[in-house]
Amino acid sequence: VELSEFVAGLPKCELHVHLEGTLEPELKLALAERNGVDIGQSTVEEVRATYRFDSLASFLAVYYPAMDVLVTEQDFYDLAHAYLVRAASQNVRYAEVFFDPQVHMGRGVSFEAVVRGYHRALQDVERDLGVAGALIMCIVRDLPAANAMEALDAALPFKDLIVGLGLDSDERGNPPAKFAEVFAKARDEGLHLTMHCDIDQENTTEHIRQALEDIRVERLDHGTNVVEDPRLLQVVRERGTGLTCCPISNGFVTGDMKAPVIAGLLREGVRVTVNSDDPAYFGGYVAENLLALARAVDLSPAELVQLERNAFEIAWLPDEQRARYL
Ligand code: ADE
Ligand code: ZN
Repeated sequence: VELSEFVAGLPKCELHVHLEGTLEPELKLALAERNGVDIGQSTVEEVRATYRFDSLASFLAVYYPAMDVLVTEQDFYDLAHAYLVRAASQNVRYAEVFFDPQVHMGRGVSFEAVVRGYHRALQDVERDLGVAGALIMCIVRDLPAANAMEALDAALPFKDLIVGLGLDSDERGNPPAKFAEVFAKARDEGLHLTMHCDIDQENTTEHIRQALEDIRVERLDHGTNVVEDPRLLQVVRERGTGLTCCPISNGFVTGDMKAPVIAGLLREGVRVTVNSDDPAYFGGYVAENLLALARAVDLSPAELVQLERNAFEIAWLPDEQRARYL
């Protein structure tokens, strides 16, 4: 079988995708029109021409303003539904998806509208296509800690609709320690915890140390700089900590997919996984990410299977549901 056919047929689990990062230009334009929001572009080509990134910061500068087109509960439903249908077409069987409520709340959209729209899409796609999923709320780390706490408090009445808490956005000057209280409270409320430790950012290994040892997250999003610190790598090994890697995204953010690092960790038995991050912006859903990695470092079919097995193992699923995928 061709590699691309093998990847296409593989049952997949996606654990690192930002719903707002799945906003394709066509839907962006349709929502802009529906809500009367001027985004400055009126064709798909014009929208795509603004997608020029060579760093996390230059990506985020395009990503956040685009969210203005998301206003009503139905908009959030339509965004998540479109992503989940596309994931289903790539044989994704289970997806844990991030979202950034603070950005929407900062524009006057209620937490409830966001979470109800996203949740209803997850329910409908599970019923219609058999793809299950869960929501992970992310804290936007370049906003103040008090704003993060307000967002968590707004989320708690809906905590049955959320599986975990993550941390994303611009890492420079925004270490995990800034949010120690917010994450401690989320843990007490029964939420799972993860954090972005983006590739090659400022103080990356110290941020990984804080996330693992001080906050005690269960997973690291990206996190492959852990290879620079043997002691932390040993912590990851001993705990079986999962890493949600995103090769195509890494290529935009750092100019390098970090394929040999990801493959090296896989071959040492660390629970690395392959994911899409912001597929509408970086031009690759999970299948394209698996294929790009497999081609770069010559992954065997057994190694591709192991990547998906890792993902189902580290997913925040009840064990009886997990058993159906493994
Ligand atoms: N928000 C969306 N994508 C992100 C990424 N790759 N890193 C940090 N924040 C993000
Ligand atoms: Zn991410």
